[in-house]
Amino acid sequence: MTQTSTLNSLPAWSALQSHYDAISGERLRDWFAPQNDAAPTRAERFTFEGGGLTIDFSKNRISDATLQLLVQLAEEAGVTKRRDAMFNGDIVNITEHRAALHTALRAQSPDAPFHAQVQAEKAKMAAFSDRVRDGSWTGYTGKRIRHVVNIGIGGSDLGPKMVVHALHHLASKELDTHFVSNVDGADLYNVLEQIDAEETLAIIVSKTFTTLETMTNAHSMRDWFLKAGCPEDQLSKHFVGVSANPAEVVKFGIAKENVFEMWDWVGGRYSLWSAVGLSIMISVGPKNFDALLQGADAMDQHFRTAPLAVNLPVLMGMIGIWYRNFFGSQSDLIAPYSQALHYLPSYLQQLEMESNGKSARLDGKMVDYPTAAVIWGEPGTNGQHAFFQMLHQGPTLIPIDFIAVLTPEHPLVDHHAKLLANCFAQSEALMLGRTLEEAKKVAGPGKEELATHLSFPGNRPTTTIMLDALTPQTLGALIALYEHKVLVQGTVWDINSFDQWGVELGKILGKVVEADITAASTDAAKHDSSTSALIARARKALKR
Ligand code: F6P
Repeated sequence: MTQTSTLNSLPAWSALQSHYDAISGERLRDWFAPQNDAAPTRAERFTFEGGGLTIDFSKNRISDATLQLLVQLAEEAGVTKRRDAMFNGDIVNITEHRAALHTALRAQSPDAPFHAQVQAEKAKMAAFSDRVRDGSWTGYTGKRIRHVVNIGIGGSDLGPKMVVHALHHLASKELDTHFVSNVDGADLYNVLEQIDAEETLAIIVSKTFTTLETMTNAHSMRDWFLKAGCPEDQLSKHFVGVSANPAEVVKFGIAKENVFEMWDWVGGRYSLWSAVGLSIMISVGPKNFDALLQGADAMDQHFRTAPLAVNLPVLMGMIGIWYRNFFGSQSDLIAPYSQALHYLPSYLQQLEMESNGKSARLDGKMVDYPTAAVIWGEPGTNGQHAFFQMLHQGPTLIPIDFIAVLTPEHPLVDHHAKLLANCFAQSEALMLGRTLEEAKKVAGPGKEELATHLSFPGNRPTTTIMLDALTPQTLGALIALYEHKVLVQGTVWDINSFDQWGVELGKILGKVVEADITAASTDAAKHDSSTSALIARARKALKR
């Protein structure tokens, strides 16, 4: 049942409501128009730096007053207090009674919580990574490792996969890193077809070490090694495990010394900084992994110390709330103009939607306002030739994060000017639009009926995040930026950004349905008629 919330009764909330009524009809193109006195400084006034990143917010539907009110809302909603509680290791994840200390994993200060423990595990990871990288870690026939297969799902897959791809230009040329997540056998099978057991290392990553997909893939991988001729007592050369549940890892059959630990105070989707990032470290080396952590720590320090009015995660989070809760936007597009950041949107889908896709407030009552938006995206320029049509001319407001990497990580420099030009031109076009009058001129005399098709409403909000180059540092800062944006929004929405109870029911029913598909006989009546019919079709197809 919906309850009246404290959020709606905050002074800044009602002030924003009236402010929305006053300015929602304003047009960005007018704010940028030469006749507007404030136009020349608009970019400068709404561009902020922090943690090595620069963000231009000026093409958003915000005025100075909007930002002031949004910052006031962040203050009234307790963002500072919750931020500090998270960094201090307080139990911010109240439903699981856990801290959320991903920041401790990258903290450069020795005073950070769990510092000694974190450093010890990192040193163990580095020693192991070095042996795999320099070829001294060998498989059962004495050959060096050439293929690393990360088996995990959700946070145990998306973060490492995204970073390994993003930093591909720094990867060891001796090694290929593969990611297997889906319980669909095609995922594992396609990788197995490309690799040789003698030269393969499997990293089984699971915080719980009970996840159906990961355990199924891990067992199949084990069978594959044995079938390929690896003696059982040599399997330890080919398997390592990463988990917060080391006893289960050993039970699976992984040697105790091959177990890397993470801890229950690290959430799965916040865990790439821990041993969950072992595949990253093996791929790019311990130094680059450290640089990734340093970049994230730089953003942490910015988030922790910068005044809210110039604080990047706060501004990003609050501008997101402006669109979601006042303009009624339903989704946010992530458009990295970087092929290397191909997996960033899917990584952010889990980060944002699993963290803030909730309806229960911290006090157990229900929200009466929208929370997380749908996150989606594709690298530019590909998206331009697929779905950008809707962004320009559809009736739906979709705020966009453009991510621009100013210098390329490859030698094809002439491509890069074209790439950046497209990124900047898209945000310009989305902001400006094309009026009916302008469209009539484009259509030409006698073709006025075409003008409505050629006109663009414009006024579409975009944010441009700039990285000087795609380095481990800037990537670390970028990821931490979004992590903290999630905290800011979760705080304002008064929800727990660190649990994920919503995934449980499907898992429980999945086990029942699996048994009903595979058992010798099944009691169809225990399901609804639709589910029973689907099970019957599967049984027939699988000849059960
Ligand atoms: O089911 C959701 C989830 O628990 C995610 O939160 C998590 O990242 C993923 O599954 C994988 O969990 P684990 O690392 O325990 O295998």
